[in-house]
Amino acid sequence: MFVIGSDHGGLELKEAIKGFLKNRGTDVTDFGTENGDSVDYPDFGEKVARAVSCGEASKGILICGTGIGMSLVANKFPRVRAALVHDEFTAQMSKEHNNANILVLGGRVLDNELALKMVAIWLDTPFEGDRHQRRLDKIAQIEEQVRKGDL
Ligand code: RB5
Repeated sequence: MFVIGSDHGGLELKEAIKGFLKNRGTDVTDFGTENGDSVDYPDFGEKVARAVSCGEASKGILICGTGIGMSLVANKFPRVRAALVHDEFTAQMSKEHNNANILVLGGRVLDNELALKMVAIWLDTPFEGDRHQRRLDKIAQIEEQVRKGDL
């Protein structure tokens, strides 16, 4: 499953991304928000990040005004690698080097055309593995130490 979520600050871009993915033939499950009412980004970030963390979803996209709040929430979850990206280069690196399983975007800082390009780059770029996998393994070890309270 591929999941997406936003707060009110990311709603417009979320809808644009859903249309873009539909045109590419990619199914995405929308966890909200559904209208422009002011909501709290942790409520929607949690839904998407939880689905990725427990393996129900293989990847997700989160959008708030800046992308900062959604990144803070998503990276609390084990096995989540949420990358806040700003341009085509960081979108590419987020997959090639970091194998990000959640792409985070700022709906109030990106124009839609660039954001859609970044989504396509993130989806289409392969993870390079090798030394980058070693680094991700280290993150997983840190995660495990924190979980055990072994700081
Ligand atoms: C909501 O006004 C705004 O704070 C939120 O969308 C996001 O930018 C938080 O990081």
